[in-house]
Amino acid sequence: MTATVIDGKAFAAKVRGQVADHVARLKEEHGITPGLAVVLVGEDPASQVYVRSKGKMTVEVGMNSFEHKMDADTSEEALLKVIQDLNNDPSVHGILVQLPLPDHLDSDLVINSIDPAKDVDGFHISNVGLLGTGQKSMVPCTPLGCLMMLRDHHGSLSGMNAVVIGRSNIVGKPMAQLLLNDSCTVTIAHSRTKDLPGVVKQADIVVAAVGRPEMVPGDWIKPGATVIDVGINRIDAGLKEDGSPKTRLVGDAHYDSCAAVAGAITPVPGGVGPMTIACLLANTVTACSRANGLKEPEGLTA
Ligand code: GUN
Repeated sequence: MTATVIDGKAFAAKVRGQVADHVARLKEEHGITPGLAVVLVGEDPASQVYVRSKGKMTVEVGMNSFEHKMDADTSEEALLKVIQDLNNDPSVHGILVQLPLPDHLDSDLVINSIDPAKDVDGFHISNVGLLGTGQKSMVPCTPLGCLMMLRDHHGSLSGMNAVVIGRSNIVGKPMAQLLLNDSCTVTIAHSRTKDLPGVVKQADIVVAAVGRPEMVPGDWIKPGATVIDVGINRIDAGLKEDGSPKTRLVGDAHYDSCAAVAGAITPVPGGVGPMTIACLLANTVTACSRANGLKEPEGLTA
């Protein structure tokens, strides 16, 4: 079998289009422009790239983008004050504090100081609890993007065996919860799991979110299964013609061998990656609609 390639780039563009339509309606019918505030502490190069890209796409869908850049040695008190001001600002509907934070800052404390209704990352303990009990919440962007792609490909996920490899708070745990809420039978596997190949072989849906390049080979995959690859790993790829080092991006799944047996697979790049920012924008328009007591956008929530 050769797998269907799930085109996350095209899917994300479609989601952004739906967000833009909803933003236009909020503006025309209610005079409201959704606003997303991103807080970046320090100068981590990867974080700077993400934040720039988020700001650009926020504006492209017609929303207001607010950026708060703070020095790496910012005090916790100063950061909490910025968050408090954003919590109280009615033009801000979504707040994202870019992670990782510098070591001297307590990420849990900072995240839990965000108003849960504006927590577009879905990391606040209130949102984690709401998701865990099947109530309306803000849902973490990457797992939400994976869920949207799975629902689009399969329709109903009810009764499917899903194995999530990885137990992070950002991806693994919320992903498992979302799949459970969609009536999958869910296993969370991790570095201590016994017979990981055997566990993965049972899965109709495999979500690989471990951060280890090409860790999942094709012979772990049940023929016809769907592989959702959350990994984005940069690895060495020999030398360029001028002798300088070359790199390439790979996922947590070994693409060629998995694609040879899977029914469907997300590529890296161009799979899950583009869905994350699209879902951040979707969460912001959802938060704005809820804050104003208006109907939520359809198809953009869990
Ligand atoms: N850093 C890497 N991914 C994320 C994310 O999804 N949200 C935030 N806030 N920071 C991140």
